[in-house]
Amino acid sequence: MAAAQQLSHVYPLGSRLNDSGRLEVGGCDTMELAREFGTPAFIVAEDDIRARARAFIAAFAARTDDFEVVFASKAFPCTAVYRLLFEEGIGCDVASGGELALALAGGVDPACIHFHGNAKHRDELAFAIAAGVGDVIVDNMRDLVLLEDLVPEGRRQRIFLRIAPGVSPETHPAISTGGPNTKFGFDLSHAPAAIERAQASDAVDVGGLHFHIGSQIMDIAPFRTALEALTGLGDFPAYNLGGGLGVAYRAHDDPPSIEDYVAAKVDAVDEIIGPGRRVIDEPGRALVANSCVTLYEVQSVKRNVDTYVAVDGGMSDNLRPMLYDARYDAQVADRFGGGTRCHVVGKHCESGDILVRDADLDDPRAGDIIVTPATGAYGHAMANTYNGALRPPVVFVKDGDARVVVRRETHEDLMARDV
Ligand code: LLP
Repeated sequence: MAAAQQLSHVYPLGSRLNDSGRLEVGGCDTMELAREFGTPAFIVAEDDIRARARAFIAAFAARTDDFEVVFASKAFPCTAVYRLLFEEGIGCDVASGGELALALAGGVDPACIHFHGNAKHRDELAFAIAAGVGDVIVDNMRDLVLLEDLVPEGRRQRIFLRIAPGVSPETHPAISTGGPNTKFGFDLSHAPAAIERAQASDAVDVGGLHFHIGSQIMDIAPFRTALEALTGLGDFPAYNLGGGLGVAYRAHDDPPSIEDYVAAKVDAVDEIIGPGRRVIDEPGRALVANSCVTLYEVQSVKRNVDTYVAVDGGMSDNLRPMLYDARYDAQVADRFGGGTRCHVVGKHCESGDILVRDADLDDPRAGDIIVTPATGAYGHAMANTYNGALRPPVVFVKDGDARVVVRRETHEDLMARDV
């Protein structure tokens, strides 16, 4: 019986199957949401993001007085998300002038913004300095040269130096960023000269060191190894250990808890560097991934050698299966269960446009609403208009109320830049 099914932890906190066996998120019936807002649509449970934000802060506060949780906003760059997290006391990192503009529009205090990038344009850096960002994460020598040129006389910009510790966690190679041959940061052999140069500069204050070794990390041991690699570079008042905590995409995924991840990082700084250092963390995915489900409508069901359930979205709203072989769960929103082995495929003109391979759905048919959970991180962020797709709306749900925070794209939007 559908209503007797338990929802797995990949769904937003507070989700349930209601008495009619329909998925409810944030107190809203997803069938009603699909009718009201159309499909595809990103449905985000506000309370889920708030709960994870509070869990991060509580986990830090239980271990240290001196910490900062920073949202890696590339995971979900939308003003409503910046605003919500800032209300919870969480600033952000931005990796471009565009993300900086979104963060400012979302009301984030510039002092709580950390400006990143491995290829910062002079104009972006000038924008960041003029906006008054809290710190700039220096990735390479040219960043220092530009800062010396751009920081006004008499002012000093706080910086962190991004170091590549030469450590590769177990994750997809495309999202492993701290190994021995990476495009990010100073490698260990070049770091001492960069630190010396920065410390001698009148334009900057060195706040500390930064590393980010990768994303969707399920084994937290490498954070410690990475920190150990930095010990020869000196002693700094603050360490930014990046983000990376993995999340559950499928029911059987078992990522480390926020508490264990935070404890591992804080304890590592305490034990390897010493007590009294400020610890900064930049979670992206772990704050937002599981807050969101995507709703699609089935357009056709084709029985070939395999069964293909084609929906009205695809690689335009979720690139992750194509880029990283990412696996997701899927269900019919009002008939949870299984029985039909199939592939949930997108509407795009590529055979690789498969959202969920080997899904197990209850007799899927045209017109059904399909739900894929855990799409809050890097879904909206990497959405695109391939094949003239109209990027989906983002709908916040809470206590039975739904509000659109990003509207669906229109045909006019597709032509808005044409001159
Ligand atoms: N800090 C820095 C400097 C980063 O580059 C990133 C992610 C993060 C923090 C946040 O990492 P997280 O906590 O989300 O793992 N598009 C890929 C993920 C790319 C991550 C890029 N950097 C995906 O969909 O899996």
